[in-house]
Amino acid sequence: MPKSLISIQDFSKDEILRILDSAAGFEKDRERDFLAGKVVACLFFEPSTRTRLSFEAAVNRLGARVIGFPDTRNTSQTKGETLEDTIRIVSNYVDLIVMRHPMAGAADIAASVASVPVINAGDGANQHPTQTLLDLYAIKKTQGRLEGLDINMVGDLKYGRAVHSLVEAMSWFSPRFTFTSPEELNIPRKYLEMLDSRGVPYRQVSRIEDGLNECDILYMTRVQQERFPDMEEYEKVKDVYRLTASMLGGVRPGMRIMHPLPRVGEIAEDVDPTPYAYYFQEAGGGMYVRMAIISYLLGYSF
Ligand code: CP
Repeated sequence: MPKSLISIQDFSKDEILRILDSAAGFEKDRERDFLAGKVVACLFFEPSTRTRLSFEAAVNRLGARVIGFPDTRNTSQTKGETLEDTIRIVSNYVDLIVMRHPMAGAADIAASVASVPVINAGDGANQHPTQTLLDLYAIKKTQGRLEGLDINMVGDLKYGRAVHSLVEAMSWFSPRFTFTSPEELNIPRKYLEMLDSRGVPYRQVSRIEDGLNECDILYMTRVQQERFPDMEEYEKVKDVYRLTASMLGGVRPGMRIMHPLPRVGEIAEDVDPTPYAYYFQEAGGGMYVRMAIISYLLGYSF
């Protein structure tokens, strides 16, 4: 079975660091067409702006070509074709598959039947490993290191797949976590058990003010409306946090605010011009990180 990236646990700490180094190389020189002749399928069964377009840009900059469909309604899944059959067929056409799907575990299913590498571009509320690699790239760039940082994750820690992958990855780098969420959106127990087993310290708070001044990275997240089984529950928590510039008076000078985006009100626009805002640069690095991931899984690295 070819090597895929389904969960961030599929990469060792050493592989993660190699991807980050490789991404830095692509950022210095992004015109590299050594994948000329390769074809990559971008199968997005769920909406995306950043992930899809940065993957497609990455493929193009590497000299390969992209195939895909505008949305799920244009596929034979509407006629009842299974995900497994779709992946078996697409595997015949391409050298690599990038897939986003609303169902947790879908990427794992795809990799189990694919004859080419599969990259998980987000599966339900489960994992978003390429987001995590670009988050690590941003953290290393802004803090100069990954080791020994105070990370405060804020918002929807229950359904936020970017949170889940990042917690797993950062646990390799001796962090101290603060998890800021209302009780309804607490991080799932299995991630806390994983941190316990690795001896990683954490605390859980519900007021955003409680962890603002003691972190190096403030990782804000959107409340994931599309994952709630009950819209009344969503309405109760949708506006739970709103970070404004006036709240940043006592933060560490090197603190940086990150967000996987899109934001829908949890970061006020008056935060954007502050020296702490880093979410747009964070997303910008995604293309280089994805160039590095694609190259690595196709057997090229530099
Ligand atoms: N961060 C992220 O996954 O954004 P998109 O949903 O726009 O791809």
